[in-house]
Amino acid sequence: MGDPKLSISDSRTGQKYDIDIRQATVRAMDFRAIREDPEEFGMLVYDPGYTNTASCTSRITFIDGRKGILRYRGYPIEQLAEHCAYTEVAHLLLHGELPTQHELDAWNTEIMENSMLHENIKKFMDGFLYDAHPMGMMVSTVAALSTFYPDAKDIASKSNRYRQQVRLIGKMPTIAAYAYRKSQGYPYAYPDWDLGYSENLIHMLWNGTRRQPKPEQAQVLARALDTLFILHADHEQNCSTSTMRQVGSAHADPYVSLSAAATALYGPLHGGANEAVLTMLEEIGSMERIPEFIRQVKAGERRLMGFGHRVYKNYDPRARIIRRIADQVFEITGRNPKIDLARELERIALDDDYFVKRRLYPNVDFYSGIIYQAMGFAPEMFTVLFAIGRTVGWLAHWEELMNDPEKRIARPRQLYLGPDEQTLTPIEQRLGQAREKVS
Ligand code: CMC
Repeated sequence: MGDPKLSISDSRTGQKYDIDIRQATVRAMDFRAIREDPEEFGMLVYDPGYTNTASCTSRITFIDGRKGILRYRGYPIEQLAEHCAYTEVAHLLLHGELPTQHELDAWNTEIMENSMLHENIKKFMDGFLYDAHPMGMMVSTVAALSTFYPDAKDIASKSNRYRQQVRLIGKMPTIAAYAYRKSQGYPYAYPDWDLGYSENLIHMLWNGTRRQPKPEQAQVLARALDTLFILHADHEQNCSTSTMRQVGSAHADPYVSLSAAATALYGPLHGGANEAVLTMLEEIGSMERIPEFIRQVKAGERRLMGFGHRVYKNYDPRARIIRRIADQVFEITGRNPKIDLARELERIALDDDYFVKRRLYPNVDFYSGIIYQAMGFAPEMFTVLFAIGRTVGWLAHWEELMNDPEKRIARPRQLYLGPDEQTLTPIEQRLGQAREKVS
């Protein structure tokens, strides 16, 4: 048997085509040869929402959505979440290898030394209204960093790209903490380089405030945050990561590219779902109201937020891990009663034909908000925390794109369904024309 081929017969012309199959995939450009007339453009593949289109090759993250498997660089998410610190996983994603202790120490130092923000960022933050959404503040501030580091435009230099990547990993928690402090009216707190990544975030958020945890509590919370960041660190070609690659493919610098990615994450169908889950649970309010809520979901009047996934058609392995962390966090913070509501919703949904048939299971966002809320975060901060963890994933994909010999500017095609060529009517003769056409 020779090389595998996909044989296509075009009933319009009777013509036959053999298309190469590599790794169970065909190249969309091979379809261009299929045409009725030699003058024609050639066949396109139509795929709204990219549900069946591989836009790149990648060696970072593997997902098997039917089996509920997630691996970073081959390592199962369960093992990484149990044994690693977030910065260890960040090293794995960006550099391709888990670090030795010596490498990890150097990497942590490098990240922490890059955690400080320029003093002018405070003035920039001050310009926002007191009730500005922290995600709006975060995406604008990340984009603004592009003007502080014009050297970032030299994306052809590997060492220069690396400098910006470390800056971004270091500064994202500080931006998050500034946005939070601004929303609370607290003075900004500088990073403490002697602390670990998540411990420092806790320090910048709550130091000197009534929420400041005791040192032993801070340790447990930092470990929980580290684990949540690991679970959020990457998820292959999701909406925000694809945005990072899309903007990066135009050779925009990493700050504006990452700001665009974080903006995509902000959407309630993506990373904004964790905030939407909390709003939904608050609205449901009590166990007795769950059946009516489920009825509305099944009638298509609303969605069960935190449920369903484009790729997972099984339990999201991240949701399983998050369910476990919840109990550890509640030991420190006290139980968030919304967990009972969420577990009951899950129980009912997993037993209901509507959800079973569509293979809808809890995703990463279903339980994460409940933990974040127990830790003392307002719902507006949830997606900001997701963005901190995902930063390294966006950067790993950006770096992979920069090294991809097949890299080209992202430029999809469209299926044009508008009018054929029309003759322009001068404006004085156009009265009523548009309305007539629509009706
Ligand atoms: N509640 C009720 N019905 C749903 C839900 C839901 N959460 N999700 C999907 N469905 C139904 C949908 O109505 C459709 O039904 P039908 O076939 O009768 O029209 C079917 O399931 C397929 O849904 P879809 O919208 O075609 O699926 P998709 O792959 O385009 O969307 C999704 C995936 C995540 C956007 C969607 O499941 C959703 O809106 N979930 C709620 C929002 C959410 O939790 N998002 C976080 C995703 S995980 C974090 C991340 O990586 O961003």
